Amino acid sequence: MYATWLEARGPHALPDSFADRIAAYTRRVDECLDAALPHPSNNPIRLHEAMRYAVLNGGKRVRPLLVYASGECFGVHAEFLDAPAVAIELIHAFSLVHDDLPAMDDDELRRGMPTVHIEYDEATAILAADALQPLAFSVLAKLEGVPATAKIDLIRLIADACGSTGMTGGQSIDLAAEGSSLSAEALELMYSLKTGALIHAAVMSACLLRDGLSEADVRAIDAFGRDIGIAFQIKDDILDIEGETHVIGKQAGADQRLGKATYPGLFGVEPSRRRCDELLSGALSHLDRFGDDAAPLAWLARFIVERGQ
Ligand code: IPE
Ligand code: IPE
Ligand code: MG
Ligand code: MG
Ligand code: MG
Repeated sequence: MYATWLEARGPHALPDSFADRIAAYTRRVDECLDAALPHPSNNPIRLHEAMRYAVLNGGKRVRPLLVYASGECFGVHAEFLDAPAVAIELIHAFSLVHDDLPAMDDDELRRGMPTVHIEYDEATAILAADALQPLAFSVLAKLEGVPATAKIDLIRLIADACGSTGMTGGQSIDLAAEGSSLSAEALELMYSLKTGALIHAAVMSACLLRDGLSEADVRAIDAFGRDIGIAFQIKDDILDIEGETHVIGKQAGADQRLGKATYPGLFGVEPSRRRCDELLSGALSHLDRFGDDAAPLAWLARFIVERGQ
């Protein structure tokens, strides 16, 4: 999927070589995820198989890539970033399993394959997601070689991003808003929670593993994370309208069917594109102070608003 985007942008579009490292980082996080997940032959076998199916069935791995890109920006070695990269992706996978359930978005296709409750059954999907969440925190608790205070801060950052004032809270607002109209401000608040919180935590995690950052540095990366988190969801909503099911790997047009409150649904596709571009330029301007070190983060920010899936 990154290869297709790169071709579309042309060989000279990238000022840095993060693109060359994407495949390596993706392989790296996939191997770490595989190692962190329970072995499929261990009991309870069906639950463990469903957990692995939910996580290892593709996906762009944008959040782990943001963790590694942020690590490159702040000079944090990848060996310390594997735990937050894995933890955030496990939580993301758990959120997708729940998001697809009949009680939520009632979707049958995810990453081009049957959703977990279709491939297995509803109870197994609920339990698999239940088990992925604590696994994420177990992975973080096992992180070695960093000060205990940094590890606790990391656990708190990711727990807050996942909880009722983060992703889960945003999902609750999303469901309550079905069939109604929200102001752009309320909509962006919902996006910043349901989707933005984990993306923001991904870029912030490297900061917690690096001493001596100035308050202004932290404020800039914090603002960057917020902007790209909201842009990510607006782009997801545009793809739901303009994308094709076989390309996006999930049922196109699902938001309209459910009467979801979305940016393009309420304000139109063109204004949504403009808002994405505005958020992207805001995000990129926050990176200015980091110079070339932030090239990988800038690359991912552009990918987020320009991607086709
Ligand atoms: C989809 O996220 C759910 C949203 C938060 C919009 P992704 O588009 O990152 O899904 P995968 O992981 O690549 O499948
Ligand atoms: C989901 O938003 C955000 C999550 C926290 C999972 P969507 O409901 O739009 O995500 P998709 O389109 O099903 O991937
Ligand atoms: Mg949803
Ligand atoms: Mg959904
Ligand atoms: Mg969507």
